Formats: sequence, C-alpha cells, structure tokens
Amino acid sequence: MREPFASHRKYGMFGVRARIISSFLIVLVAAFIACAVSMTSIAGNYMLKSRVAKQHEETARLALMLAGTFVTGDTDALLPRIESEGQRLSGRLMILDADGRVQADSFSLQNGERLAAPEIIEILEGAESSYGLHKQAASITRRRLTWLDYFRPSETSSEWVGMFATPIIWQGERIGVMLYIVSVQDMADSLIAMQDQMILVFIVIGLSEVILSLIFSRIITKPITSLTAVIERMSKGDLHARVNVTGGIEMARLSEAFNQMSEKLEHVNETRNQFVSNASHELKTPLSTMKILLESMIYEPTMEEGTRHEFLVDINKEIDRLTAITSDLLTLVKSDSGELKLRRESFRFGETILDVAKRLEPLANERKLAMDVSVANDIIIFADKGKMSQVVYNLLENAIKYTPAGGSIELTLKRNAKSAVLKVTDTGIGIPESDIEKVFERFYRVDKARARTTGGSGLGLSIVKQIVMLHDGDITVASKEGKGSTFAVTLPID
Ligand SMILES: Nc1ncnc2c1ncn2[C@@H]1O[C@H](COP(=O)(O)OP(=O)(O)OP(=O)(O)O)[C@@H](O)[C@H]1O
Ligand SMILES: [Mg+2]
Repeated sequence: MREPFASHRKYGMFGVRARIISSFLIVLVAAFIACAVSMTSIAGNYMLKSRVAKQHEETARLALMLAGTFVTGDTDALLPRIESEGQRLSGRLMILDADGRVQADSFSLQNGERLAAPEIIEILEGAESSYGLHKQAASITRRRLTWLDYFRPSETSSEWVGMFATPIIWQGERIGVMLYIVSVQDMADSLIAMQDQMILVFIVIGLSEVILSLIFSRIITKPITSLTAVIERMSKGDLHARVNVTGGIEMARLSEAFNQMSEKLEHVNETRNQFVSNASHELKTPLSTMKILLESMIYEPTMEEGTRHEFLVDINKEIDRLTAITSDLLTLVKSDSGELKLRRESFRFGETILDVAKRLEPLANERKLAMDVSVANDIIIFADKGKMSQVVYNLLENAIKYTPAGGSIELTLKRNAKSAVLKVTDTGIGIPESDIEKVFERFYRVDKARARTTGGSGLGLSIVKQIVMLHDGDITVASKEGKGSTFAVTLPID
C-alpha cells in the first residue's frame, strides 16, 4: 500500500525546529561578535589612552634629565643611571644617537646596534613623541593561565610591550632619542580576561538559547505534528478522526478548516454507502420476486397454463423494472462523476411535451384521468432534447401514478421573463409537508409500502433534479396532502 506520510527521509532532516534553532543561533553569534569587538576596542582604547599619557611624561622627563650626561659622551656615567632608572620604572631604557645607534641600553644587550623601530625613525624624522605596541617573546611572568589559553598558545608565549620615544634636546638641538620599552601585558591581560568572560557568558547564553528554542519550537510544531497524526489516521480509513483546535490563530483556523473538510468527507462517505446499500436493496427486490415465481413454476410442473403465463408476464415486468433501475443508477453515477454530457440543440420545448403526453396518454386513460396540455408553441430552448423529454416523462408519470382514478392532470408551458416554465399539476394524493424536502433524494419514497404496487424505486425525481441543474435550471414543488401537487421546472432561455 502507498504510504503518503511514510518517511522523513524523503523530506530531509531539516524540519521547522532545526530551522528555528539555527536561525536563533545565527542571530546570537552575530550579536556576540559585534558586542565583543566593540566592547574590547572601547575598553582597550580607554586603558591605552591614560597609559600612553603617563609613559610619555616619564620618557620626556628622562630625556630632559639625561641630556646633560649624554651630551658629554660619557657612556660609563650614563649606563648606571639608566640602569637604576629602568629598574625603578620596571622597564628597559635606551639612549640612541642622532643616527639611531644604541649608545646605552639598560639591559646591556644591544649596545652599538642600529635600531630601525618605526617609533625611532619617527623621532629621527622630527616628531615630538611617538609610541607603538609590539609583541615579543615573553620575558616576564604571566598572569595565571585559564583553560581558554590552551586555544591560543601564541598569546601565552609572547608579551605585549609599549615603545615610547622622545627626542633628547640639548641647547635647542636634537642630539639623540630616548627610548622607553615597558610591558603592557597587564593591559592586554585585562582585555583577554574581559574577552574570556564574554566567551563564557556567550556559552551560557548559547546553551540556554538552544534549550529555549527546543522548547519553543516544540510548542510551535506541536499542532502540526498532531494535525499530521490525524491526517495519517484519516488516510488509513478513520474518517471520524478530528483535530483538537489549539495553538495560535493560524493553527486554530487550519484545524477548523481541516475539521470541516473531514466532516464533509465523512458525509460524502456516508451518502455513498447509503446509496450503495439502497441500490443493492432495490435490485434485490425484483430478483427475489422473480426467484419465487420461477421456483413455483419449477416445482409445480402441473401448473395451469393460464397461471404459468401470468407468472411469466410478472417475471417480464420485474425484468423491465430491473432494467429501469439499472439505467437510472447509471445515469446518476455518470452525472455524479461529471460524465453526463449534454448534447444541446435548439428545439421547440412544447413539441417535446406534447410528444411525451401522447406516449403516456394510454396510461392516463387506463387510470381514468383527464389530461389537459397547454403549451406555448414559440418557446425554443437550447438543451439536451432526450434528457428534457426524460424530465417531462418522469414528472408526468408521477402525476399519473400518484393520482387516483377520476382525477385530472394539467401540463402547461409558459414564458416568464428570461425563462421557460413547465408546470405539472395533479389532483392526486399530494405529499406530506414533512416529506416535501426529501422527494428529490435518491431512493426516497413517501410511502414505502405503496411503492410495491406502483413499482417506483424513488430515483425518478433525483434524476429530474440532476438534469434540470445541469441545464442551469431550477425545480420546485408545491403540494397539499390529499389535494394534489404542482411541480414547476424553470429553464433559462437566451
Ligand atoms: N405527483 C406526485 N404526487 C404525490 N407524490 C409524489 C408525486 N411525485 C412524487 N411523489 C412522491 O415522491 C416520491 C419520489 O418520487 P420519484 O419519482 O423520485 O420516485 P418514484 O416515483 O417512487 O419511483 P421512480 O423511480 O419509478 O420514479 C414518490 O415515491 C412519491 O412518494
Ligand atoms: Mg417517479
């Protein structure tokens, strides 16, 4: 059997829930990155600003203080001074000549070397002060490492230093460069700590976001899941299944629409079952009658010739009845499935009515009924002639069948604005008010017992109605029990 909802494989794993969670996550990551970047840069700038100002002041003071010693060219006197000053400032001090060559290094590592750091070049080119941040191999003890440091080995093996440079001026002349190198790792460390804190917060928020969106998406998709379950049940044949209307307005409306559809479907199903069971019953009746007649003929070989003939005539009648019912059923089924095609043509409706009246005249005479036909002869309709004559036949046949001897029947055709109106009036038994709405239903008969003798199956009027509807017409009935009935068919004429 085909299973319409069988696999999630067919539709992939990315349902509504996955989409909700992932879109939440994307928004969160984007917001975090924007937040982290702007906050670290604001904090970093703020810390740097005050630090740079202080360090510059220090460098300028040193340049002023050491200028006198430097100008004498006495390096031996200069070195102990910058060593002690460097220790005091816990940094490294260097004095360079106007050529950029190191004259004194408080670490005594690069004496005599020419340095080409951008800060020095700037001063040599005439700037009043200059600073820059550099990363170099770590020399000082780092802060306590956190687990996040395992993800950034380069950060832990190096340190950030600030380089501050000012010119050394003696009697208005630039004679060298004062360089002060100091670790700013503490600053970098606070920025990193801030970043770490933010990462932790992000992880916590991210996790709660995933949990929350799991819950939310469950709430959102729950109605869909239950609707799907009901549809699956219905597709397996349980037409009684209904959805419990919950969720937002949209879901409630969807469920309501679905329930309405289910109700219709169930109704259609019931009607169909009813139709099939009625049809079988109708077909069974003539068959059992024939069986009884035939059996008595078989088991009574001595049956009188007259009786035998009578039986055969009855059997023949039953066969006619079966044939009529079958062809009526076929007409109805065809019209249900939209297969009943109209072969329209323009013709004088009055002529068709007269034709039918003539065919049924013997029956009316037999029942001692007076028949009066009065038709406007100029009414031309564009319709299926065969089907219209079936309409007239069924209505007239009913009038004859349901009118006791001595009654009268009237057939009229008149023009009314843009339509033709056919009226079949009888002085018959009439239809009780409670049944009047139902006479057009399939297999409906007012008096089930009487149908035995009249031989109707209750399909005639439903066929009449179908045909009239197919022609965009209308049929109404007015009746009074014991007085008579009038059936009126209205057909459009253009
Ligand atoms: N002119 C009428 N006067 C009184 N009752 C009528 C009239 N026409 C129809 N009815 C009632 O409506 C019912 C349905 O009519 P319908 O023509 O559909 O079926 P039927 O005549 O019983 O059988 P058939 O299928 O042979 O026409 C009838 O059984 C009858 O009870
Ligand atoms: Mg009938």
